[in-house]
Amino acid sequence: MKEYFRNIAPGIFLQELLNRPGAVGAICPSSRFLASDMARQVPLEGDGLVIELGAGTGVITQALLKHGVQPADLLIVEFSAVFVQRLRQRFPDLNIVHGNAADLCQLVPPGRKIKAIVSSLPLCSLPPTVTQAILQQWQALLQPNGLAVQFTYHLRLPKWREYLAARHERSKIVWANLPPANINIFSFNEPTPDIALP
Ligand SMILES: C[S@@+](CC[C@H](N)C(=O)[O-])C[C@H]1O[C@@H](n2cnc3c(N)ncnc32)[C@H](O)[C@@H]1O
Repeated sequence: MKEYFRNIAPGIFLQELLNRPGAVGAICPSSRFLASDMARQVPLEGDGLVIELGAGTGVITQALLKHGVQPADLLIVEFSAVFVQRLRQRFPDLNIVHGNAADLCQLVPPGRKIKAIVSSLPLCSLPPTVTQAILQQWQALLQPNGLAVQFTYHLRLPKWREYLAARHERSKIVWANLPPANINIFSFNEPTPDIALP
């Protein structure tokens, strides 16, 4: 139990929530049920980098590693300096970038294929221009074969979905979280071109 609380670091989370409520966008870290369901959406076959956006205290990071994502294939991007410091202590082997998801294209190693983006960014509470900028980065990095996994507290598809030119593959509601969360999975497969008939 002590280990659990040390890992989710509720004190640091609360401090960041009070300092930057809109950017943290949650009243506590995700539950381990939500974290493992998010991680399970990432395919392990095939090469490419997995990017986690908004890792906070690292609940989903831990679940991604447990799921089988290799440390060398995982890139973490987190905006809060306090969370970054904590994440680097907790996961010394991971590449943890202190940066803004709205600048993602500049933060990923050039030429590296991106397999999936796993995000717990509060896209509904960030300023709409920031949310749009973030989604544009996904579009640029995930086309053609990538996957985006994002949870929200909306049990229906959130409004920002209209900014995303991607196919909504499926949703999964996780009740064992405070509050219950909805995981949405989007694929960025390019549409099959029409076959030109002679
Ligand atoms: C809802 S919390 C999720 C924390 C953790 N992944 C969890 O599930 O408990 C959102 C996280 O996104 C981070 N964040 C917010 N805006 C960001 C941005 N523009 N770029 C990167 N991280 C951001 C916050 O600092 C916070 O850690």
